[in-house]
Amino acid sequence: MSFKTTEEHEALRSQIRKFAETEVKPIAFMLDQENSFPEEAVKQLGKMGLFGIPFPKEYGGMGLDQLSYAIAVEELSRVDGGTGVILSAHTSLGSWPIFAYGTEDQKKKYLVPLAQGKKLGAFGLTEPNAGSDASETETTAVFDGTQYILNGEKIFITNAPVAETYVVFAVTTPGIGAKGISAFIIEKDWEGFTFGDHYDKLGIRSSSTAQLLFHDVKVPKENLLGQEGEGFRIAMATLDGGRIGIASQALGIAQGAYESALDYSRERVQFGKAIGFQQGISFKLADMATKIRAARLLIYSAAELKETHENYSMESAMAKVFASETAMEVTNDAIQIYGGNGFLKGMDVERMYRDAKITTIYEGTSEIQRIVIASHIVGKPPKEELSAAKKKAGGAVTGERKKQIFAEGKSKEKVDALVAALKKDGFDFSIGIPIDTPIIDAERVVSVGKGIGTKENMKLGYDLAKAAGAAIGSSRPVAETLRYLPLNRYVGMSGQKFKGNLYIAVGISGAGQHLKGIKEAGTIVAINSNANAPIFKNADYGIVGDLFEIVPLLCKVLGSEEKTPAPPMVKMKKRTPKKLPPNYPIYVCGGCGHEYDQELGDEEGGIRPGTPFDQLPEEWTCPVCGDEKSVYIKS
Ligand code: CAA
Repeated sequence: MSFKTTEEHEALRSQIRKFAETEVKPIAFMLDQENSFPEEAVKQLGKMGLFGIPFPKEYGGMGLDQLSYAIAVEELSRVDGGTGVILSAHTSLGSWPIFAYGTEDQKKKYLVPLAQGKKLGAFGLTEPNAGSDASETETTAVFDGTQYILNGEKIFITNAPVAETYVVFAVTTPGIGAKGISAFIIEKDWEGFTFGDHYDKLGIRSSSTAQLLFHDVKVPKENLLGQEGEGFRIAMATLDGGRIGIASQALGIAQGAYESALDYSRERVQFGKAIGFQQGISFKLADMATKIRAARLLIYSAAELKETHENYSMESAMAKVFASETAMEVTNDAIQIYGGNGFLKGMDVERMYRDAKITTIYEGTSEIQRIVIASHIVGKPPKEELSAAKKKAGGAVTGERKKQIFAEGKSKEKVDALVAALKKDGFDFSIGIPIDTPIIDAERVVSVGKGIGTKENMKLGYDLAKAAGAAIGSSRPVAETLRYLPLNRYVGMSGQKFKGNLYIAVGISGAGQHLKGIKEAGTIVAINSNANAPIFKNADYGIVGDLFEIVPLLCKVLGSEEKTPAPPMVKMKKRTPKKLPPNYPIYVCGGCGHEYDQELGDEEGGIRPGTPFDQLPEEWTCPVCGDEKSVYIKS
């Protein structure tokens, strides 16, 4: 390694720095305040060719090296971390996997406009139940003979919904974990592909981040990226490169904060001299500069390894964990040097302090980086089995639920079936509680989501709450953004927790944050027109149908007459589905009576869950008494 950049690298740095200083820095505060995307600057960056830095010229790129790309992200992030990640997510995550794994046709069709800056790219891996453990992906892509049908959701996706091209990961072979995941190239305007709200974030507020929602999206088989089952490996390899990008973003943020604090330390005079000459501050500056230099060398070295096609997975993880933690420390010190002034809105160090935090989280948390680094040093730990509870819950955030969904038949039939099931479970709808009972004390709540539409339609929610003898609640956006209800009535991770007997979710799709607020609900009922809404996987009963048709019918069946005030309602036990007998044989050891259950496999014997008895290797022995496989008998 040369430990030095070339003249070309420094010329590129000057060009980008000039652009960043003149086109991005003056608007960085406004972008942050208004949570708005730097559309014009992004267009300009595209025209300058910066969206294709590390890709060959034949695919519309600049044909430069990985180090040039790292410098570009660093320089943009030096003035605005949000703009830096737009370039990083586009290049490393949205474009690189197409370059590395795409067919010639895919590269021509998708990589060329991405590299030319005509289109923006993004990467859809993270899901509510698959964050750090990306192998838990639940989005499915089912091949119907001609095309794949994509269903599911992705969360926290950088560049969505602005991006036009998405590399998305979905399960094509269920039940086999990481090896059942495949990658696809998805276009923004395909039918059934929609977006959730743009997140309101702590930092990098100029970058756009949203949820991806797939409902029966038809994906041509030509859009499979790589081979079926290769998706997890593609995701991991992509993230190795992405981590160089995020490390560069962190470095740029730290550099910007350091320079700002250094300038201030030269101007600010206390005790008769500039604070920069006082040891308390000069030592801080020395430490900041040292950490920044160490981070830079780690990043440039990882970029160089990538460029020369050597292994760089561990080095990029080292660069990311070190640079992101440096960004946290340096921005913190920068505010400290500024004193009270640094705490004020409008000061760049205040924004940089907030921007820095995400770099320790996305594209693999600091903890995941340490797992990656450690696995290169000490090897991979043995796989831990899914916890029994998680397995039983089938991935549902709200735990094990009945999932009895009434999707077929006329609306009235579905409503009758739901009410009959609830009554059979012991719900008495002649009694009720006041509609304004605090959520935490309420045994019944009817909660309304964004599916309710305009404010006038809230009447439907109130009517149903009265008919069900319940209090009224909502999802977070209905209270916080639409303001249809007071803030103390929204249910979710950051809102009220519902722990009562009956929760009826109307027009709520079931984002992870909402579901975490109803984990302890006795019975959950969902009413939603989208059969794939996550709420159904987390509900005991559900009706798939238009809420504007279902709710009035439900009110009628439950009875609109005044309810008898409920005595304190009896806490009803959560109704767990009856355990069905397995649809496969159980084998019992003739020696000790141990039962081999294929759902569990035999972790210690290296047998994956889901392995049928007849596929066990001949040398496999009973994990309890050590008898041979042949002594087992089918029960
Ligand atoms: N390159 C290529 N293949 C790799 C790989 C890599 N870096 N890492 C693992 N693999 C392969 C393994 O070789 C293995 O294949 P075999 O079974 O054939 O050997 C397979 O992938 C499974 O590997 P592991 O058993 O190591 O996988 P794991 O489930 O234990 O996970 C992990 C390892 C490192 C924890 C991984 O899950 C991980 O990196 N998690 C973090 C995910 C992440 O960074 N998410 C961020 C999402 S992107 C984002 O933030 C969005 C945005 O828009 C900014």
